[in-house]
Amino acid sequence: MSEAPRLIVLYGSQTYTAQEVAERIWRKTKVLGFRGPVQAMDEYPITSLIKEEFAIFVCATTGQGDEPDNMKKFWKFLLRKNLPPTSLLKLKYGVIGLGDSSYLKFNFAGKKLHRRLLQLGATPLLDIGLCDYQHDLGHDAVLAPWLKEYLSILKAYYPKIEPDNIQTTFIPRWKVSLEKCEDKTTTTKDGLTEDIYFAKGIRDSFVDATQFQVVKNYRTTHVTHFQDVRMITLKTTGKTVVKYKPGDVFNIRPRNSKEDVEDLFSIFKEHNIDILPHYNLIVEEYHDGKFSFTMLRRQARLRREYLYRKSVEDKQKNIQAKKDQLKRCLEENIPIHGDLRKEALALQKRIDYEDKGPERAAVIGSFSGGANTQSSQDDEYRYAGVEDPKIMITTSREPSARLKMFVKELRLIFPNSQRMNRGGYEMSQLIHACRANEVTDFIVVHEHRGVPDSLVICHLPYGPTASFTLSGVVMRHDIPDIGPMSEQFPHLIFHNFKTDLGLRTMSILKYLFPVPKPDSKRVITFANNDDYICFRQHTYKK
Ligand SMILES: Cc1cc2nc3c(=O)[nH]c(=O)nc-3n(C[C@H](O)[C@H](O)[C@H](O)COP(=O)(O)O)c2cc1C
Repeated sequence: MSEAPRLIVLYGSQTYTAQEVAERIWRKTKVLGFRGPVQAMDEYPITSLIKEEFAIFVCATTGQGDEPDNMKKFWKFLLRKNLPPTSLLKLKYGVIGLGDSSYLKFNFAGKKLHRRLLQLGATPLLDIGLCDYQHDLGHDAVLAPWLKEYLSILKAYYPKIEPDNIQTTFIPRWKVSLEKCEDKTTTTKDGLTEDIYFAKGIRDSFVDATQFQVVKNYRTTHVTHFQDVRMITLKTTGKTVVKYKPGDVFNIRPRNSKEDVEDLFSIFKEHNIDILPHYNLIVEEYHDGKFSFTMLRRQARLRREYLYRKSVEDKQKNIQAKKDQLKRCLEENIPIHGDLRKEALALQKRIDYEDKGPERAAVIGSFSGGANTQSSQDDEYRYAGVEDPKIMITTSREPSARLKMFVKELRLIFPNSQRMNRGGYEMSQLIHACRANEVTDFIVVHEHRGVPDSLVICHLPYGPTASFTLSGVVMRHDIPDIGPMSEQFPHLIFHNFKTDLGLRTMSILKYLFPVPKPDSKRVITFANNDDYICFRQHTYKK
């Protein structure tokens, strides 16, 4: 092989399953040394198909035997009557269909695609693979042997490839590990363990969850109908009243029954698998291709938002400049410039009630005296108070047991924070991962001989970053009989943060905390004394 051979992987997917399968296949082809993209069929420039030699099509079926939205254009093109039956003579292909045999038109889209490619002169390397969601092993039951066969046929064309010996260098996206922590399970009065979805610290802050009881649950379709559609009536527990209005979305998070959970753990026990109900499952996401994809999308959105704000700001600056010019003309009794004359009256009206006067000018350091001219570039905290912060805390490499303990305690200080094992990751990888996961602040603690000695707070996506030296750290762990700690969102007291630098430091610290409820009894104080910031937290009783 002089140049790496080309093989394209195209998918038609409505709800991402086929896309995920296509990406998986594509990764394998990359490891084998093939070039070529993985794309939705509609994204692929279809006129290039006549030049392609090898292709894999991953095709889901949706609706009642319909093709997914992201292959509709592609499909319409293939159906053109004027395409000669020799159009795709060069192409050797395989179609893997993703469907569900409980639907009448099982894998229709894949079957139609396979047939049409044949009609246009393409050569199938093997018969279509018909994956069935109803199979006990899901789609993989058909997919795995199908792909194996496809790759072994490819070997006839490219003898150097080793499909049976794929050494994948791709890092899996998720790493799941077990934290064998002590049993501190709290049990609610109905005998269930603490709610796993809304437990302290991991509750989605935007979810206002309510517990329901299922009162009725019956089938509305006839037993002979292939779909089991149900009418479910729910009742709130206690005195909870659920308010809703048209258009609201009802999101159900079911939980496993106590019996099922007990069954599962008794199976673990029987097989000597050391997994107990109170252990924590830690799911970590790696930085991989998927991450950067999310990141790119997020960054594109941020860029659009930035450009929009910038354009609004420029417009306002323009208006302000005109208002200033008009003001000067009126005050100094000089003729109004020709360009301004038309707008003069309208501008004059705005001047009276829009400008906030000299205080504003002093704040933004300009002479215009006008409102709204502050630069959005300095406004990294524009979403503060609207969106809760999401904080990730980690340590320097190879942390001591004491530093790990300190991070655990920091996690209790900052609501909505998570800790992350530092492992061998580079700082840039961690920052990428945090950005991709919409983390708002990334905190790294360092130590000197087991004593925490500095704390770096980096606001994401673009800063600011501040480094604080730590001294005289006393951990909760060091204080005997300290009792449980309040995890309410705290009220904050900032003392003596008056200079520009002080105000900036205050923003960095302030926006690490979500807005507290008015009746929160937890208070955190940052008191600045000669550039030493003393930290204290307390709760109070009325
Ligand atoms: C609304 C809907 C309609 C479907 N219609 C069919 C169908 O007509 N024939 C079929 O074989 N599978 C059908 N399926 C099953 C899907 O093809 C199957 O779940 C597939 O894995 C979806 O892939 P995707 O997530 O890439 O869209 C349907 C699934 C849904 C959700």
